[in-house]
Formats: sequence, structure tokens, C-alpha cells
Amino acid sequence: MTEAPRRKPIYPVNKYLEGNYAPIREELVVEFEDMTVIGEMPTDLDGVYVRNGPNNQHQPLGKYHRYDGDGMLHGVHFKDGRATYRNKWIQTSCFAEETAAGEALWGGMLDPRRADRPDMPLKDTSNTDVILHAGKLLTTWYISGDPYSADPITLASLGQSDFNGQRTTKISAHAKTDESTDDFIFFDYNRDYPYMHQGVINSAGEMTALTPVELPGPRMPHDMWISRKHTILHDLPLIWDEEAYRHGRVKLKFEERWPTRFGVLPRHGAAKEIRWYEFEPCFILHTINSWEDGDWLHMTGCRIHPHHDGMGNPDLSSITTIMGRHGLDARLYYWSANLKTGATKEGMLDDKWNAEFPTWNNSTMGTHMKYAYCAKINHEPVINFPGLIKFNLDTGASEYYSEGPGYKYSEAPFAPATGATSEDHGYVVSFVRNEAAGQSEVHIIDAQNFTQGPVCKLVLPCRVPEGFHATWARGDMLGDRLATQ
Ligand SMILES: [Fe+2]
Repeated sequence: MTEAPRRKPIYPVNKYLEGNYAPIREELVVEFEDMTVIGEMPTDLDGVYVRNGPNNQHQPLGKYHRYDGDGMLHGVHFKDGRATYRNKWIQTSCFAEETAAGEALWGGMLDPRRADRPDMPLKDTSNTDVILHAGKLLTTWYISGDPYSADPITLASLGQSDFNGQRTTKISAHAKTDESTDDFIFFDYNRDYPYMHQGVINSAGEMTALTPVELPGPRMPHDMWISRKHTILHDLPLIWDEEAYRHGRVKLKFEERWPTRFGVLPRHGAAKEIRWYEFEPCFILHTINSWEDGDWLHMTGCRIHPHHDGMGNPDLSSITTIMGRHGLDARLYYWSANLKTGATKEGMLDDKWNAEFPTWNNSTMGTHMKYAYCAKINHEPVINFPGLIKFNLDTGASEYYSEGPGYKYSEAPFAPATGATSEDHGYVVSFVRNEAAGQSEVHIIDAQNFTQGPVCKLVLPCRVPEGFHATWARGDMLGDRLATQ
């Protein structure tokens, strides 16, 4: 039996435990009066900007990887021209075990798995994404884990979500809520046949579909699409190296001769209804939108951009390096499939920006959508977002905004204005680290005047570390929870 990783403290020399990547130790509530307000706070902003991310509770064992940190939610609740900031750890079962022990009990993704815990060989931190469904937040984990529920305003943990006792699978990080039906659509993936499932939970928490999705072997998809009618699942040629896996190592491998395959499944369809469409080999970390247009199904997303040689030819093997070493490089891209004839087409929408961590107006997801908002990716000294980009998905046109050097953004969701009359009528909201001032801020940008910069900045009296994914939880979708505040 392999022993748990030996305690080998590396804090604070790990770059993902320093600067604004360093974890914070307190759970806080910051009232509006304790923030410095620069500009004018919008009065038509009603909802919660909430972001998930890693924030380890204890000194890590072994080789700390950024993905290993315990999940922590940071939220800003906007209402009536005021804002309140909160942060809370996600009380996962592993978090509770480590709290009780007073120390870390799991190593990280670069360490040996815990052979004494076949139920939990790697710590499920629920640190990756956060999604609003049926008035509550659900937090998720990138490898496929147990979803945890949280109060969208207080961020208090409400325990593991078992979907009224009907959940029989894990769920992957990038599940989606269709705001037109309040369906929650998810997939899982693992190493056991059939390697993937698609599931649907309705607004009452009942599971209305669980469909096995047969893949040729274990895969490592990160995201999917939903249209109003279909779920589109990924079979991409970036896989775990099986030889390395047998020796207990984690190593990626890109199979350059395998196609990219998208499985198109009616949301409540049976396994036999899945149709697969082939595209050029690629890897996609994050999708944007999919919608039906007659017989065509269109999909947009951020496609990993391989290195190119001096002749302009792509080196597909570089995708392994890009994904394995935090060298994230992606371009806005489209794929289309004719569901009647099987014809496909694909191409780049923009070749200018290394853009990732896309957001959009959630109410338009699954229908034709014109705008997406991405973070510009920078890698010095480690991955960071020096600015934000507004894309026109119809034309590929873009607008860029940054406060300047030394400002680091977060994934920045779109928040529709109260009574919004068009798709981009609202705000893009982001935590921002102002390095020169050594302070954390919340920037609120008018999406229709994107390059004008923030209409309001909230300077927080506390530090908000770098994080992962975020969402906007619309005030009118929080049910009666607002009344409890
Ligand atoms: Fe992600």
C-alpha cells in the first residue's frame, strides 16, 4: 500500500503560494461603509458576483499545485446601490476531515494518491466553478467531484448536493443552468466504461435525465455546450498517457491523428440518439455558446492555439506542453455541424487575442448570442489576466480594456442591468488586484461603453486572492433568500 505523502513543507517558495496567490486565513463580511467607492455605484445592479478558487486551509503536503487549494467563495452582493463583500470556505467532506485533524491529510495532484482512501484518493476541493441553480449556488471540481450547495448571499455551505437522493455520478466542473427552464445540465467523466454521462436536474431538484455517453476510452474533457435543445459533449484527443498512469504518474498526451469529436445529444435523449461530428484535432478548455439555426448547430469557444513553426504550420504536440505547464494560449473559434447532412465547418473568429475564461449574458445561452467577455491571458511571472476583452461573436470584432500595468483581473461575468433592454445592457464585474497600491478592488464596467473603463471601483479593506471561475447570480433568481438578509 502506498503511504500518504510525507510532510515536506515547501511554503512559501511555491509561486502559487506567494503574492496574491497566497491563501487568506479569515472569513469576512465587509459592509459598504467600509469600502472606498470611486465613481458612481450603479443602482440598477441587483444580484451577486461570486467567484470560486483555491485557498488551502493548511500548509500543503508535498508539491503544491495551484489546483490543489481548498475551495473558497468570494462574493459581492449588490442591491439598491450598495454592496457587501463576503468570503467563505466550501465545507467539503475533505475540508472537514482536515479541519478536525488540524493539518493537511492529502497531497496534491503532483503527489501519489492516497491508497488508504480508495473512496477519495485525491482531495475533492470543489474549488473550480460556481453555478446558480434553483436559487442556490453549486460548487464543482474540475476532475468530476461531488457538488456542494451554498447560500448565494451569505455563501454559507449547505452541504453536499445529492439531487434529492438521485445522484449516482460525480459531476464535472462546467455544468450549465439553462435560465429559460432552470434545467441544470451536467456531465461526468472517469476511467470506467462508458467513461461519461450526461444528466439533467430540473428546478425542483429532480433528475429528469441521466444518459450514458460511450467514449472510445477515458478522456479528460473540461467543458461542454448546451443549446436550448441539445447537450454537446467533447471527445478530444488530449488524453492521459496510459503508460505513465500505470506507473502512478500524471502525464498528458495529444494524439495528433485523432479527430476532435462532438457528441450531440437531445437534452432528454437516450444514448442511442447521440450523433458524433468530427473536426480538426484540438483541445478546448472553455466553451462559450451553442445554438440551433435551421439544420445547423453552431458552437463557439476558446480553442487552444498550438505553437507554429517558421512556415506557419501548427505543432499539435505543443498542445500537451501548453496544457501541462500552465502556458494557456487560446483563440476565439467556431465550429458548425449540419444535423441533417452531417456537413461541418470551423474556423478562427479572432487571431489577435490570447483570450480565455469567457463569460456572457446567461439569459441568452443556448440561443444566438452576440457578445462574450474574456480575460486576456498573460504568463509573466505566472498566469494572470492583465485586461478584459469584449468580443462580437458575429464578426470577431473586439474591444479591450485594462487599467494599465500592475492590474490583474479575475473571470468577469456579465451582470444584466435591472430591466435590461438589450443583450449587453448591463455591467462586467471583476475582482481586480491593484498591485501598485497593494489592494483588492471590485471594478464595474458598463458593457455598452466597455473601453471607457469602470463606472465604479470598490476598494476593499481586505485581500482577495487570485481565483478560478465566477458567475453572476441574478437577484430575481434568488427566490425569497433576499428577504432573509
Ligand atoms: Fe474551467
